[in-house]
Formats: sequence, structure tokens, C-alpha cells
Amino acid sequence: MSIHIGAEPGAVASGILLPGDPLRAKYIAENYFENPVQFNKVRGMYGFTGTYRGKRVSTMGSGMGMPSISIYATELMRDYGVKTAIRIGTCGSMSLDLHIKDMIAAEGASTDSDINRIFPGTYCPVADFDLLRASVRIAKEKGLSMRVGMVLSSDCFYQEELTGPRSNELWIKYGALAGEMETAALYTLAKKYGVRALSLLTVSDSIVGKEAELSADERQTSLDNMICTALDTLCEFV
Ligand code: HPA
Repeated sequence: MSIHIGAEPGAVASGILLPGDPLRAKYIAENYFENPVQFNKVRGMYGFTGTYRGKRVSTMGSGMGMPSISIYATELMRDYGVKTAIRIGTCGSMSLDLHIKDMIAAEGASTDSDINRIFPGTYCPVADFDLLRASVRIAKEKGLSMRVGMVLSSDCFYQEELTGPRSNELWIKYGALAGEMETAALYTLAKKYGVRALSLLTVSDSIVGKEAELSADERQTSLDNMICTALDTLCEFV
């Protein structure tokens, strides 16, 4: 037991998929794992361990935003021995040539958050290169297109004062492909605990253009390409 995860020691595999939504973790366990066993239900943040292609793997929700993923990632890495973590999430595209359902691998994550103001300078949260490279290769093998680039991990989904057109303009000018809310914290904590981490993201809406948004149901069910890419990548590291 850790403070927020009600699992026995050893109940979590060394490799884990971290969707934001705990119901998506349930969906992955039910549709992709053999013999899934639930290891957490504290706060409804479901976590499961099972096997995929003969490898023991886990999945658990991370919640929304950097405070939430920081709590779960810390306990998984520090207390449960997680060594490889792949976030799978949605993002809002900040580039007009990225469209709904496109996939992005986040090589780095800028942030408007104060969460990394623990450093005497500006920290640069980056993905594990081997994981990143493997995910690009695996997506290609599946015939899926994947963009690799920098994303913005924001504290805000709605506050236009912070995330409005003027600030977006600057992030876009300096190369941000999409906005989401977790990756900068995950990458930073992964380095702290010597863990490999990667974020794979599917575009669910556009921050800069007008595109039809994915419905909640579509969000739940239309992410299979990303889930397969993430699971196949994870399997090479466990
Ligand atoms: N902003 C932040 N996070 C997101 C978005 C967005 O537009 N879309 C999906 N996750």
C-alpha cells in the first residue's frame, strides 16, 4: 500500500501504460490483457496487471493534470518498482497540419506550470530516447503515421488568460505541436527515479483551427492504434 495506491508489493508490473482516464485503463485490461487482475480502485483510479503477448504488463489511470500524474507516477516508480512508463493521452493540436486522430510522440515537453520551478535553471523534460525510437519504428511497421516533436504541458484546459491566442502564438512559433496536461511532470519524475518514460498522444481537438471534436465515446474507443503502438513498444522493454 502506498498513500494513493492500494496494491500489494509486486502487484504492479515493471512496465505500465498510463492513460489519463481510469476507464481507459479498464478498457485496455479488458480488451488487450490476458488474465487481468485489478490492483487498485482507490479513488476510482483503476489499475490492472495482466499479460500481453506473453509479457507481464500493467495499466493504470493517471488522472488529469500534472499534480495528479505526479502523485501516481511517484508512487508507481518509488514504491512499486515501475521501470518503464508510457503515457497514452489525448491532446489539442497547435499545428494546422495536425488533424483529429493523428498520433504524436512527445520528444520533449515545455510547460507553463510552476511544477518544475525546483531547479536553479530551466529544466528540459525529455522522453527516453530508446522508447521514443522504438515507438516510431513500431508505428511505421503498423503503417501508422506518427509525428515526433515538442508538446506543451499546460496547467490549464480552459483559462484563456493563460492559454489564449497570444501565448499559444509564442509556443507555436517555438515549435509546440500540441497542448496536453501531463507529460512535463512524467518526464521529470522518470529522470528522478531512473525510469524510462514516453508520451504518445492522439489529437482529440484543435487549439488553433476548427475541427470537429471527438466525443467522449469516441475518445474511449478510437484510440486502439495508439494503445497497440504503446503496448508493443512497452513489450520490448519488459
Ligand atoms: N489542451 C490541453 N489538454 C488537452 C487538450 C487541449 O486542448 N485536448 C486534449 N487534452
